[in-house]
Amino acid sequence: SAERNRELLLMFLYFCLCRTIWVQPRPSTWWAAVSSSWDKVDWKENFRMTKTSFLHLCDILRPRLTRQHTNFRSPLSVELRVAICLWRLATNLEYRAISRLFGIGTSTACCVTQQVVTAINVVMKPLYIKAPSEAELKVIVQGFRDRWALPQVAGAIDGTHISIMAPDENPVDYYNRKNVYSVILQGVVDNKMKFWDVNVGCPGKVSDARVLVNSSLYSRGENGTLFPGWIERLNNVDIPLHILGDAAYPLLPWLVKPFPEGNGLTQPQVNFNYRLSQARMTVGRAFGRLRGRWRCLLKRCDAHISFVSHIISACCILHNYCETANEEWVDEEPADNVDDFADSEIDPPANNGEQIRDALCAYLAQ
Ligand SMILES: *[C@@H]1O[C@H](CO)[C@@H](O)[C@H](O)[C@H]1NC(C)=O
Ligand SMILES: *[C@@H]1O[C@H](CO)[C@@H](O)[C@H](O)[C@H]1NC(C)=O
Repeated sequence: SAERNRELLLMFLYFCLCRTIWVQPRPSTWWAAVSSSWDKVDWKENFRMTKTSFLHLCDILRPRLTRQHTNFRSPLSVELRVAICLWRLATNLEYRAISRLFGIGTSTACCVTQQVVTAINVVMKPLYIKAPSEAELKVIVQGFRDRWALPQVAGAIDGTHISIMAPDENPVDYYNRKNVYSVILQGVVDNKMKFWDVNVGCPGKVSDARVLVNSSLYSRGENGTLFPGWIERLNNVDIPLHILGDAAYPLLPWLVKPFPEGNGLTQPQVNFNYRLSQARMTVGRAFGRLRGRWRCLLKRCDAHISFVSHIISACCILHNYCETANEEWVDEEPADNVDDFADSEIDPPANNGEQIRDALCAYLAQ
């Protein structure tokens, strides 16, 4: 398509630019200084991870970042390039400032960041953000059961807005209800706040329900390939594996949401909603931690719209990478705990979601 061609042309121009700049790199002793003199706290503050995790990350990305046929060979070490990228994601500092810090050119800082973000997505996404295996699912379901006494729960879903600069094309689509331009990150997390599915880049004006319906998660949920058919029979109703969502989502056999507020809820329904909201906090806390670590998502992400999704996705991957390595992180107040109380604007296909929710509610009341 024309759009794709334009994208390719832009990329090509970019690569030419990178190439000319890399012919004469400015020398940098920055990295040598960092790796010998920084202590634990410095590493955590600046790269959001321990030195061990950082070096392991470099090893994961090294084959891709040193490949010959990428048009250019960077004279900068893999460690330095990964450091530049993480610095940018962690601080959202302007490239001009980063380039001064690292002793490189501004466009080099920008190219390097793009290159490493791309490498993270290509190399690590299949490893770090994927539907859980059956063995992993068993652990997740047990985790939700142990912690929140909810049966058959495989995750919690929500959407969050990432602020961006007004894009040149169709800016109105990106203008959200909170009067800023944004794209939406839809995430499903497990009981340990790790993302196992993300959908990135829908324009900010789109509702959470529509983002869901347009995502591959939804197609898989509806065609029955999302989860294995494990059933638990409660109060004579077969309860399938499901995820938990807020009121903005449609009620589906594989997505359970609260009873609508304000319709004269019974006490068991009130209790059920409360229990659900407690378990759903895993996803809100995951978003909070994601943004706390990678502050380019907390502030306005000033990357070009064509690259914003890659950055968001890379941050989710790095979040999982850090959580998998059991990196400690002190949570701040979740920046994104505003619940959507508006009921879903999507009419779900005919299903037995109500029956499942009623059975779960009755089960919790026993
Ligand atoms: C729906 O998804 C497709 C690709 O999966 C994407 O191109 C399109 O922009 C999405 N639509 C909306 C409204 O986000
Ligand atoms: C189910 O949907 C997913 C996502 O669209 C697709 O990749 C898969 O082939 C579908 N499977 C079946 C059995 O229809």
